[in-house]
Amino acid sequence: MRMSLNLCALALLAGCGSKDSPTWYRDIQPVIDANCARCHNGTGIGPGDFRTYEAAAANSLAMSIFVESGQMPPPTADPTCADYKDSELMNLTDAQRALFTEWYEAGTPLGKVDDAPDKIVGSPPFTADEIDFVFELPRDYTPSPDAAGNDYHCFVLDNPSEQDMLITGYEVAPGNLAVVHHAILFADPLQRADALFGNTGASDFSCDDPVMDLEWQYLVGWAPGGPPTRFDNNVALRIEAGQSVVLQMHYYVDPANPPADQVDRTQLRFRVRDETEDFPRVMSVFPIGPLDFTIPANEVYTLHDTLVNDFEEQAGFEVRGQVHTINPHMHGLGVSYKAWIERVDGSPDVCVMQSERWSFNNQPSYQLREPITVEPGDTLHMECTWDNTASNPNQLFDPPQDVHWGGGSGDEMCFFLSAFTYEPAL
Ligand code: HEC
Repeated sequence: MRMSLNLCALALLAGCGSKDSPTWYRDIQPVIDANCARCHNGTGIGPGDFRTYEAAAANSLAMSIFVESGQMPPPTADPTCADYKDSELMNLTDAQRALFTEWYEAGTPLGKVDDAPDKIVGSPPFTADEIDFVFELPRDYTPSPDAAGNDYHCFVLDNPSEQDMLITGYEVAPGNLAVVHHAILFADPLQRADALFGNTGASDFSCDDPVMDLEWQYLVGWAPGGPPTRFDNNVALRIEAGQSVVLQMHYYVDPANPPADQVDRTQLRFRVRDETEDFPRVMSVFPIGPLDFTIPANEVYTLHDTLVNDFEEQAGFEVRGQVHTINPHMHGLGVSYKAWIERVDGSPDVCVMQSERWSFNNQPSYQLREPITVEPGDTLHMECTWDNTASNPNQLFDPPQDVHWGGGSGDEMCFFLSAFTYEPAL
């Protein structure tokens, strides 16, 4: 690296930016558009807007440092473990990584607009044609945060549909990104949303986090940076006709720096299977992971847990599952995770999802390009590793304390939210 810096310093004298140096139009802009812009666009979760030449050139040193160190783009699941949709938009190749430093060192050459490649399109926003149904907060809502700045608020949504809806894609339009931290939509088949939280019939009420151990069924979730989702492989989520549906919003209002405008009216937009399409396989979503553990203070600690596929027992007949999407989840002390399948017939283990670098800032729901089959009797293994020492920059306690399973920011979690289909259907 130092070598190329010196070479460039010499080249600068003679006019740096030789024909081999990366240029904005040919090399940098396409990578920024594909791999950075969904967060660094002025309103996303990343600071700044890097989509113009001027802004990118002004930030070229920071970009080269953050990209070279592997901090940016935020680490995602390892695409060599399992092939997932848009992995090329979430990860950089070594050659792409090197471009940022070379571009900075060459003096951020602009290049020629004619050299720009055809744009890579990631997950473009839904077109009007794709939006078949919209859920919206029933009213403008202004968060009422606790002392730490958090407000978990649940809204029972109006579901006027007279037929089951088979959801083949969704897009979340947060009403106010300055305060919206996550949105999770649940079906409430027993229609007891209010009873669970001691609510007396209001259509929205304060609700704890997490709600995963309640009887609500997880449908879709969104966190900042979450792209529009279109399901491949002919699968769908089902919302039954008239079924009670609850949207849990997590608002965060920085107590030290509350934004002037905090009013929110978030929308969830759905693409629904139309009659001309094949009938999809319906997915059920649930978290796979241990519900109880203690991470000892001052330790780097790995928890290993297993689950044998015994859906057969619940169903009364032999059931094979297929995993379609996975969303790993830990809190701030998380370092790495891994999930794999040990085959009942002794064939080689199958990697499902893993990362050596957990990033709390980037928690997409990964869509497997090829769904993974779980045979009856197969064992699902999962592993989470946390760094509960003083040297973890996300450590909240001084000195470090034992940390337990729980939803608060001082607690930890370890689960893989997975969407399954079954054969035969349960
Ligand atoms: C999923 C969202 C996301 C993506 C994609 C992403 N970033 Fe970031 N970026 C962030 C967040 C959040 C921060 C601030 C927190 C941090 O530093 O981790 C950040 C910080 C940065 C910073 C430091 C800026 C500052 O002022 O401190 C740079 C530089 C940066 N990102 C460059 C990039 C580049 C280059 C890419 C693409 C190759 C990229 N990022 C992709 C979310 C993202």
